[in-house]
Amino acid sequence: MNKGIQRFYTRIWGSYELINSILTLGMDARWRKKAAASAVKSSREPGLFLDICSGTGQTAIDLSRRLPYPNRIIAADFSPQMLTQAAAKIHEKGIATISFTLADALLLPFADNSFDAITISFATRNLDAKQGHLLQAFREFHRVLKPGGCFFNLETSQPRLKIIRWFFHLYVKLTVKPIGWLISGSESSYAYLSSSIRSFYPAPELESILYEAGFKTVAYQRFLFGAAAVHQACK
Ligand SMILES: C[S@@+](CC[C@H](N)C(=O)[O-])C[C@H]1O[C@@H](n2cnc3c(N)ncnc32)[C@H](O)[C@@H]1O
Repeated sequence: MNKGIQRFYTRIWGSYELINSILTLGMDARWRKKAAASAVKSSREPGLFLDICSGTGQTAIDLSRRLPYPNRIIAADFSPQMLTQAAAKIHEKGIATISFTLADALLLPFADNSFDAITISFATRNLDAKQGHLLQAFREFHRVLKPGGCFFNLETSQPRLKIIRWFFHLYVKLTVKPIGWLISGSESSYAYLSSSIRSFYPAPELESILYEAGFKTVAYQRFLFGAAAVHQACK
């Protein structure tokens, strides 16, 4: 488990959603919905879904709105504060199909071949904070997926065109740390997020890591000139 990352989510959980929405001009919500819709389409029914690194539970909610009863969704995260916020939100919306598990993505407390589909959104960068951890996490997701099941990875990415990448990095540099710091009060958390966005893998490299983790087929779709991407990796 990465204690540093866990600590900084403990500092920013209260303002996390608002800051995301400001920084992406609301586009993060649209991308999550698209990833959730693809996950629902891929699954056999009735199914068991896992939203790992679920945070405040928005992708789990997007899944629950698209999945016909009696599918079940487990929202898992290693931050109790994030999960408490997710539980309050889900209770308020009257959603009964989502349950919660406190879990580290690097060592999942689930049996092999448990899930029909797994989603993760805007958290893969966190799993890459230490060398080898991203591959370890992807192998865990592969282990707990049923054969034929798919993993959906929504994350920031790198625009293909140099000039667009340059503007994207400039935008991230000028906005993520100052705005995140101003609203959340945590300078170090948003300094880390800003640099991790600029240094994360381009989509084809992430595709290679997913193959290395054992997935049989991998495909991806880019959003906003490649500023974000959703990878679909199937077992
Ligand atoms: C940027 S937030 C994303 C939350 C949510 N998926 C979303 O789309 O808004 C990253 C989340 O990943 C969680 N996280 C980071 N590393 C983790 C790990 N190794 N195991 C479980 N959760 C982790 C953090 O606690 C945080 O809630």
